[in-house]
Amino acid sequence: MTELVLAMDGPAGSGKSSVSKAAARRLGWAYLDTGAAYRALGWYVVQRGVDPTDAAAVIDSLPDFDYRVGTDPDGYHVFVGEHDVTTAIREPEVTAVVSAIARVPEVRTFLTGLFRDIVRHSEKPGIVVEGRDITTVVCPDAPVRILLTADEAVRMARRAAELTEHSAAHVGEALRRRDAADARVVDFMNAAEGVTTLDSTDLDFDQTVDAVLAVVQNVVQKETHG
Ligand code: CDP
Ligand code: CDP
Repeated sequence: MTELVLAMDGPAGSGKSSVSKAAARRLGWAYLDTGAAYRALGWYVVQRGVDPTDAAAVIDSLPDFDYRVGTDPDGYHVFVGEHDVTTAIREPEVTAVVSAIARVPEVRTFLTGLFRDIVRHSEKPGIVVEGRDITTVVCPDAPVRILLTADEAVRMARRAAELTEHSAAHVGEALRRRDAADARVVDFMNAAEGVTTLDSTDLDFDQTVDAVLAVVQNVVQKETHG
């Protein structure tokens, strides 16, 4: 079983996916992107023609939702049944429905169970798990818990840099709305007790990864030296 869990939460654009993947790679650990599972369920619901705002219908879809994911930070792929949905889950059609399904308590309980199984069965020395409620709900006992933040303007700019000028303006607004909807369900803007806040506003990518690794190092050293 995995000995060390690094739990990381944060809002969209804080850098949690890219930073935690890089941290996992540097540590030789496994990596789990929990947002990808919420997105994969969103994709599945859309495919089935289910109304994502119909909680009962979404819950009915859960038993047939065959979600499979590896935990290798290199070549991270997400499957639903036989479909490789790694790219499809990033499409705007899926992004538009994901908050609605993520607010259904039964969905959260179901996916939290899957995440804990994956953590339990990982064979690497550690695993980095990232999302919105990892430090508080999924892995509240993780030895390393980090809330990655950055000023809103910086987060929007980071996302915009990945897009064309036209879609950047549109996506910025959609992102703000999604964060607001998600924050009503789980608090990922304020660190829970014992969670280290890491503000990446003035840090570039590599500096952020180094800062995360420094927090891990600190905990490992404390554990080793009693
Ligand atoms: O990477 P990005 O910030 O776009 O989002 P994501 O991590 O891919 O998560 C997609 C959506 O899944 C979020 O907007 C939340 O609605 C939901 N989510 C959640 O509710 N709890 C998590 N632990 C992870 C994601
Ligand atoms: O997963 P989340 O939405 O929190 O963010 P991400 O998709 O990992 O990061 C969004 C973008 O910000 C990526 O292109 C990262 O390379 C970039 N980034 C950055 O420019 N500086 C940082 N300190 C952290 C991330």
